[in-house]
Amino acid sequence: MTLFDKFGRQITDLRISITDRCNFRCVYCRSADPENYREHDEILSWPELDRLAKIFLSLGIRKIRITGGEPLVRAGVEDYIARVHELGVEDLSMTTNGHLLAERCERLVEAGLRRINISLDSLDSHKFERITRTKSFDTVMQGIDAAQKSKLGPAKINAVLVRGLNEDEVEAFAEFARQRGVIMRFIEFMPLDADRTWTRRQVVPAMEVYERIHARWPLVQIQHERSETARKYRFADGAPGEIGLIAPVTQPFCGHCSRIRLTADGKLRTCLFSKDDHDLRGLLREGATDDEIVSYIQSIVNEKEEGHRINAPDFLPPTRTMVFIGG
Ligand code: 5AD
Ligand code: SF4
Repeated sequence: MTLFDKFGRQITDLRISITDRCNFRCVYCRSADPENYREHDEILSWPELDRLAKIFLSLGIRKIRITGGEPLVRAGVEDYIARVHELGVEDLSMTTNGHLLAERCERLVEAGLRRINISLDSLDSHKFERITRTKSFDTVMQGIDAAQKSKLGPAKINAVLVRGLNEDEVEAFAEFARQRGVIMRFIEFMPLDADRTWTRRQVVPAMEVYERIHARWPLVQIQHERSETARKYRFADGAPGEIGLIAPVTQPFCGHCSRIRLTADGKLRTCLFSKDDHDLRGLLREGATDDEIVSYIQSIVNEKEEGHRINAPDFLPPTRTMVFIGG
């Protein structure tokens, strides 16, 4: 079986958020105020997540990314990864803030994980503290080192650029890629922050990032798959490392989007910016059969929105922010 939407896009990529909890409070994501986490029984249990993974794979999902919140704060994540790996998914990866990575890296590799995305929004420890509202810079750097040395390397390092906050670090990040041999990815700030402070002026366009790096170290484009979100570049001088530019705001890639998302509380989202999400948890807990769940998923995917409309004059940010949706 395969999953298509009414615009003919095949859905092959599923992001599973396994928790809405996080040990960081990044300014572009969460509020500084204490927030309400979901109760434990509102979050999908491991058996429920196992069942859904199986069903999604039967529907032609080939890529699964484990996200959160911060996925490493939920006990049992390595075992879940091992079970999903056993199910035979083609591409299994995780997005993490890296805080718990150094100590967990080995077990993640044993479980079958081979790719990882680690968030790092500043190379300056003080600024890192301001952005993440934690003092974890050194532990995250250790996590990156551990990943690089393991089968998870080369790690993808994600930086969300915010004008006036960390835009001055573009060259420093590029240099970091060259020195460490990591894949440094710059992500445009999207209106998904809990504090609702996003403005268009704070977005640093990918083109600007490209021009700045290219002026210093000429870049050569690398072919990317159609559905990939990042434009990829290597350094013309042969230095290690790679640059990825992700431009959801200035160059939307919705036309080739192959993604859907499952939130920690069991809602299916067909777009980061969906107005509504769709309750799979209710169906599971009411005793629906696999066939019923499959039909429900198909009918929801069919209605996947054409695009995110961030640039439309009447755009309103979704009521759920990134920490609930899962990167
Ligand atoms: N805009 C862009 N990216 C975001 N992320 C979280 N919030 C935002 C936002 N408002 C990214 C993080 C991480 C992933 C989970 O999502 O940097 O890489
Ligand atoms: Fe946590 Fe990731 Fe959000 Fe930062 S971006 S607060 S690490 S979920």
